[in-house]
Amino acid sequence: MTTTETGPHVRSPTFDGPIATRMSEFSAAYMTHIEEHLDEDYTHVPDRIMGLLRSTDELVQGFQVSQLVHGLQTATRAEAAGADIDMIVGALCHDIGKIISNANHPAIAAEMIRPFVSDEVYWVVKVHQDFEGMHYYARMGLDPMARLKHCGHPFYASAERFADEWDEQAFDPDFATLPLEHFEPMVREVFSRPPRRCPAA
Ligand SMILES: [Fe+2]
Repeated sequence: MTTTETGPHVRSPTFDGPIATRMSEFSAAYMTHIEEHLDEDYTHVPDRIMGLLRSTDELVQGFQVSQLVHGLQTATRAEAAGADIDMIVGALCHDIGKIISNANHPAIAAEMIRPFVSDEVYWVVKVHQDFEGMHYYARMGLDPMARLKHCGHPFYASAERFADEWDEQAFDPDFATLPLEHFEPMVREVFSRPPRRCPAA
């Protein structure tokens, strides 16, 4: 069977066999066919991440630098400090969730990168706002030491370093920021890894 367009969002799949229209009736052979397509789909993830990162250059939100530049500066600082590739890519992507929502952007970014990075980087990105709060929460009437609820966590020191030495300082229009092209090979390496299965958040 060849692929044919049947409407703006309807496409006949390349599957030789009966195809049900509801998941409860999908055959095992058809499910295998779907799984193969899902695997192939992962090969496009590096391009999609690069596209998402580029799109964050449109997010300025009153800062002196765009969210792309903020991410690049965070990653530049992480790399200069000797961080591993997972942490550098995590630094680059840590605010990517702001494309959708500022309110829960750490959770969005953390879950997006989770299948491809270490547990440490996943956790640091997930909680980074709690740690970043020390630098500005007091001026918003929030608890600047929100980070303390994570005391005792094995990656606590890593999150402190991320927030205090890299993220917090990455709003400088005069900083010698490395370009996205510098980080692209790292992005492609990390997001080309076989994705880990993740438990529900
Ligand atoms: Fe940030």
